[in-house]
Amino acid sequence: MINRKIVMIPGPSPTVRSIQDQMGRDTCAFGDPDFVKDYKSVIEDLKAIMDCSGQAFVIAGTGSLAMEMAIANNTKAGDNVLVISHGFFGDRFLDVTRRKNLNVDVIQSEWGKIVPVEEIEKKLSEKKYAAMTVSHVDTATGVLAPIEEIGEMMHKKFPDTIYIVDGVAATAGARCYVDPMHIDVLLTASQKAFGVAPGLALVFAGKRSLERRASLGETIPEYYVDYAKWIPIMEDPSKYFATPAVNLIWAMKEAVRIIREEGLENRYARHEKQAAAMRLALESLGFRILAEKGHQAPTLSNVLYMDGVDDAAFRSIVQEEGIIVAGGLAAYAGKMFRIGHMGNADMHDLVSSLAAVERTLYRLGQPVEFGRSVGVFMTEMMK
Ligand SMILES: Cc1ncc(COP(=O)(O)O)c(C=O)c1O
Repeated sequence: MINRKIVMIPGPSPTVRSIQDQMGRDTCAFGDPDFVKDYKSVIEDLKAIMDCSGQAFVIAGTGSLAMEMAIANNTKAGDNVLVISHGFFGDRFLDVTRRKNLNVDVIQSEWGKIVPVEEIEKKLSEKKYAAMTVSHVDTATGVLAPIEEIGEMMHKKFPDTIYIVDGVAATAGARCYVDPMHIDVLLTASQKAFGVAPGLALVFAGKRSLERRASLGETIPEYYVDYAKWIPIMEDPSKYFATPAVNLIWAMKEAVRIIREEGLENRYARHEKQAAAMRLALESLGFRILAEKGHQAPTLSNVLYMDGVDDAAFRSIVQEEGIIVAGGLAAYAGKMFRIGHMGNADMHDLVSSLAAVERTLYRLGQPVEFGRSVGVFMTEMMK
């Protein structure tokens, strides 16, 4: 019998039935008064959840578009930008920024580690930076950045540098509050810890970011991602600039309802607890986690193989066993797999994932005691 496939890659994450139902509805006209009301409520609810008193932008696109939107509205050609990179997705900002003729400096951590806040501070004091970028969670390394501590330092010492946080693999799963953490721009997307399908780019712009955009003049070189084009729509979604992703906005409304039902702080605590339990469970089988302790993401784990396990064989067998995981990137291709434990992935998904990993190791001829990781996981979760 063929196993059902559970998507446990670090995004898209599993979509629950009530979210699927919203995506499966008959699409209405985007001017439909009921839809306009729904769109407005999603924007307002997201602002409230993320504690952003500025502007939320909810538009069709992906995380990469949101990255571009953050850079486009906060910098102009010739500005200095500092990129803090904890992996592949941190590095993506280099490509985004260099195309805009920005002067880009980068501090890259060794994969699995963070760039210490003191090092960021030292670099920022060398020259005037228009903006600085940090990924809250880098999906390539599973590293969690200390965004609150960085925000505190930026607020005290570098208030003129726009602090941009990439929350694509974190937002709605890892604790983040825009205004209290002094974040000027939080960018994210629908397909990870929100548990919606891919297709929505979300940008939360604080007051200073909105002021920065205003200081850049009436137009900027970019068209679709210009805050100025979208502000009138976000304030009154009955207006048109570009077609909203109607069904995804309904799906996001349902995702927000689920988040509120769970409680935001409960959701963050659940992510932390299940991430710690997943890691202990995987370690009990002999795997190691790439990210160093203290900086491990609550939303995904990057799992280093033990000797003798071939990546291609592991990932193809685990898929037959019903679980889809992702491979390692760059220097870690072939050396690890990446598994998500975010959004609305529940106990069934996580227990099934561990059991499938055990069956896979068995089929690969590795010594494995059935139920070991599942037992460790459940013991932690029931505490
Ligand atoms: C941290 C991070 N930033 C940005 C992106 C790019 O997002 P997207 O693939 O939705 O364009 C990803 C994608 O996985 C990501 O994990």
